[in-house]
Amino acid sequence: MRNETIAIHAGYEPEATTHAVAVPIYQTAAYAFDSADHGAALFNLEAEGYRYSRIANPTSAVLEKRIAELEGGVGALAVATGQAALHFAFVNVADHGGNIVSVPQLYGTTHTLLSHILPRQGITGRFAESDEPDAVAKLIDENTRAVFAETIGNPAGNVCDIEALAKIAHAHGVPLIVDNTVATPILLKPFDYGADIAVHSLTKFLGGHGTTLGGAIVDSGNFPWAKHADRFPGYNKPDASYHGLVYAERFGRTAYIERARSIYQRTMGSVLSPFNAFLLIQGIETVALRMERHCENARKVAEFLRKDSRVAWVNYTGFPDSPYYSLVQKYLDGNASSLFTFGIKGGMEAGKNFYDALKLITRLVNIGDAKSLACHPASTTHRQMSAEQQRVAGVLPETIRLSIGIEHSADIIEDIDQALEKACPSARLQAAE
Ligand SMILES: Cc1ncc(COP(=O)(O)O)c(C=O)c1O
Repeated sequence: MRNETIAIHAGYEPEATTHAVAVPIYQTAAYAFDSADHGAALFNLEAEGYRYSRIANPTSAVLEKRIAELEGGVGALAVATGQAALHFAFVNVADHGGNIVSVPQLYGTTHTLLSHILPRQGITGRFAESDEPDAVAKLIDENTRAVFAETIGNPAGNVCDIEALAKIAHAHGVPLIVDNTVATPILLKPFDYGADIAVHSLTKFLGGHGTTLGGAIVDSGNFPWAKHADRFPGYNKPDASYHGLVYAERFGRTAYIERARSIYQRTMGSVLSPFNAFLLIQGIETVALRMERHCENARKVAEFLRKDSRVAWVNYTGFPDSPYYSLVQKYLDGNASSLFTFGIKGGMEAGKNFYDALKLITRLVNIGDAKSLACHPASTTHRQMSAEQQRVAGVLPETIRLSIGIEHSADIIEDIDQALEKACPSARLQAAE
């Protein structure tokens, strides 16, 4: 099946009792056992079925199957947020003493997780100088447990060379984990290029309405855990926390995702509520159509900005002179992301004035909503950093990050035009003279 069909049908047939066409919300904490033996078989992972909603829930299971099928994976785990998904994805490969080698352009909180939080648990994040595969390769050593990248970086908008990163990771016997939140499986299927694990914040484009937080981890089923037994003892030695289960032996291709569920979801419990799973399923039904419109509108807005004399620069990867243009053609079929940055003339003051003058475009720090959204990082998300730290993070005083929505493009452009006029009218005057 194709994306549009998977997004609407995968993982659910009208259920046997009521024949409900919409996916039912199974708002239950627990599930009845037929007998003591049935309960024991469920706990031994020998029988299929549900026992407690911290571990699995039928509404969330539909969401998991749908995302797994969209990504072309063998299984998925839905969790409460994208951040929880990233946390589980990392600790499911790395224990104390291990390191994760990452490209530097990451969503801020993921950067914090790798640079400050996981190190307190003995897992180090190592950041390459750039997203160039060679820069990443340099940092891999015998303690590396995964290579990590955002397929499209937030907010940098960089497009990673997934195929090259996967080759490097595999040459060292480690998986490539990618955050595919900004691209979504509609624009890019990382498993087609060798990535092993995909992580999502469902809060963004997949959910699409800015109403519901959620996250997911998807397993390609392709990483050979048994082949790298020394590096990944957690997959190849009996697990004392689950009466001696050996994950690679018991689960084969689904070892990663079953281990994430049995160990991390079970004991740490970042559970997605069934109601939120239901809302995310509603959103996913239209994701293919929405992504088309997001990309089309973004192109029109980027072209408008680039021609405007009040604008200093536009960092949009769909322009042929972008360093990422060829990767956009290869990985995104020419569909540059609707998340991009630009700067207006006049520095911090003009950037803030532009931001304050927006009427239709919402001022906030979210992305991927049906609505157009804007963030002025220097006065909000990156405010605590020094000017130099901001520069290294790719944030200039005037930088505005846009997440272009699916409204009519003319209305979005009119709003930007009037805000530019308020922020730097003199620039237009000069251009006219
Ligand atoms: C690329 C990316 N990954 C992960 C996250 C975290 O997702 P959540 O807010 O659902 O925890 C975000 C949030 O903005 C993001 O942009």
